[in-house]
Amino acid sequence: EANERESMYLVSEFANDYFQKVMFKTDQGQAIGLSYFKERGFTNETIKKFQLGYSPDDWQAFTDEAVKKGYQMEFLEKTGLTIVKDNKTFDRFKGRVMFPIHSMSGRVLGFGGRILTNDKKAAKYLNSPESTIYHKSKVLYGLYHAKQSIAKEDNCFLVEGYTDVIQFHQTGIKNVVASSGTALTPEQIRLINRLTKNITVLFDGDAAGIRASLRGIDLILEQGMNVRVCTFPNGEDPDSFAKQNTYEELNTFLNENAKDFIQFKASILVEEAKNDPIKKAETIRDIVNSISKIPDSIKREVYVQECSRIMDISENVLFSTLAQISKKEH
Ligand code: CTP
Ligand code: MN
Ligand code: MN
Ligand code: MN
Ligand code: MN
Repeated sequence: EANERESMYLVSEFANDYFQKVMFKTDQGQAIGLSYFKERGFTNETIKKFQLGYSPDDWQAFTDEAVKKGYQMEFLEKTGLTIVKDNKTFDRFKGRVMFPIHSMSGRVLGFGGRILTNDKKAAKYLNSPESTIYHKSKVLYGLYHAKQSIAKEDNCFLVEGYTDVIQFHQTGIKNVVASSGTALTPEQIRLINRLTKNITVLFDGDAAGIRASLRGIDLILEQGMNVRVCTFPNGEDPDSFAKQNTYEELNTFLNENAKDFIQFKASILVEEAKNDPIKKAETIRDIVNSISKIPDSIKREVYVQECSRIMDISENVLFSTLAQISKKEH
């Protein structure tokens, strides 16, 4: 219902202002929230641009203030900002640095809140729940700030996390969005597809990041888009890497290391098992399977040639494998 959605947007907007005010205008906010972001290397300009904030370390400070300002409990609960349990109310976000998540047109849909420590036992990020206005699978973090630049550069960098997006902006690369830890969805890719046909996947340099990149490739190819993958040195993510480098260095790294999806898949094989024929066969089958997702037949043929060259296998056998796969799917 339109009224309900509008009320939820208004509550979210209020919360966004509130978390920013708490961070800039209270002692606790400055000492804990603002200094956390400063330590991560974010400038005031960057913090303001992404409307970062801080939720006070208190179970009801936010809810009390919202109720005082006339916001209804119904919408505080529906946005997940307030948790109602046994007739008591609690703030969902407490003592966390806050990242508002915007729609493509800049409305606040929800939040990610990060704990301030690196305590491995606690969940690092707490996010707003699914709601009428916030569908995780249909949102890309940073799209509002990136959309013009994605169209202009005719490419979109896809990263995992909030801070990856923000650090890239600060370093000077603005055509970047994050899947925010969820597995990439077709709806998210469609949002990018309206702006460019080119995606460069920049997931974290760990096993989870590589697995996620592999899963994303086929979904991107299926939409007729071009996909490149650039991995970071082990233990680094786009945020930590960008933080240590200038714009020129980052740009050079991306240009030199972004690989076509076939080269990316082939390079994983090289690392896993250089001379293992079974592994090699599996990789070729895997690559052909990805090629089969490409809707355009000319592109498919070009990629078969590429695969033949890289993997040193005849085009004929690749084409017949491709034919078998498409038979199975129809
Ligand atoms: N994420 C989440 N909940 C978690 C862990 C991660 O929602 N418990 C999401 C967040 O959107 C996060 C992204 O997944 O930004 C990537 O996770 P990770 O790489 O672990 O976090 P970073 O973004 O690198 O966060 P930081 O640098 O603050 O540690
Ligand atoms: Mn909806
Ligand atoms: Mn990670
Ligand atoms: Mn990360
Ligand atoms: Mn990180």
